[in-house]
Amino acid sequence: MRPLILAANWKMHLGPAGAAAFLREFLAGYHPASNREVWFFVPSVSVAAAAAALRDATAVRVGVQNVYWEPKGAFTGETSVPMAVEAGASAALVGHSERRHVFGETDAETGLKVRALLAADVIPVLCVGETLAERERDQTLSVVRRQLAVLDGLDRAALARLVIAYEPVWAIGTGRNATPADAAQVHAAIRTHLGTLGAAGDHVPILYGGSVKPGNAAELIGESEIDGLLVGGASLDPASWLAIVGARSD
Ligand code: PGA
Repeated sequence: MRPLILAANWKMHLGPAGAAAFLREFLAGYHPASNREVWFFVPSVSVAAAAAALRDATAVRVGVQNVYWEPKGAFTGETSVPMAVEAGASAALVGHSERRHVFGETDAETGLKVRALLAADVIPVLCVGETLAERERDQTLSVVRRQLAVLDGLDRAALARLVIAYEPVWAIGTGRNATPADAAQVHAAIRTHLGTLGAAGDHVPILYGGSVKPGNAAELIGESEIDGLLVGGASLDPASWLAIVGARSD
């Protein structure tokens, strides 16, 4: 059975001291559950502090929100995969919609990042999702398939180490989440697509993200196609994050 992954995306919030204080509060109320993992995508400057704070915690993982694909060199302002690993990260977001739409990141760049992460044995969490205009033009599945095309050519072993996050752009930070049924339909299409690439599609966790809150987490994870959640705003308050981490669909 795929573990349920509850992943926090802190975006540009919580420096090292803030991260440590948050995680102290989180750990005071955290009860690890079987087959459930809690991941934290923190700002790169806070990775070491988060990894230290979570050193003795069970079923947790620290990741970065972005990496550059070259291991080192004259790339001012970037963080390489080996540096992120050294700081304590074992996963990374790739192609988050803010990277794509605020910073102009392309599918080609996203593909290079996925490969650099896989080569270093770091889990890429590839984020895909359509804009509102694309959804209204009925292009959701074609956009998502285009974004997944960066996986073409990866072998079965590489595909088995991936995580996908479906985050409709219109749902991110807007308070308007996709319905569990809508999300499940896209997740099923993603799983079918992964199967055509040769992935043991059943093994790739597919997370949903976009306006997840304590009030809708349970019904979202109640969908069998939804293997976890990627949560922005509601992961920034320890109480609301603990409520999502402990959400039960039954
Ligand atoms: P949100 O963000 O939960 O604030 O909508 C999700 C994300 O961007 O990963």
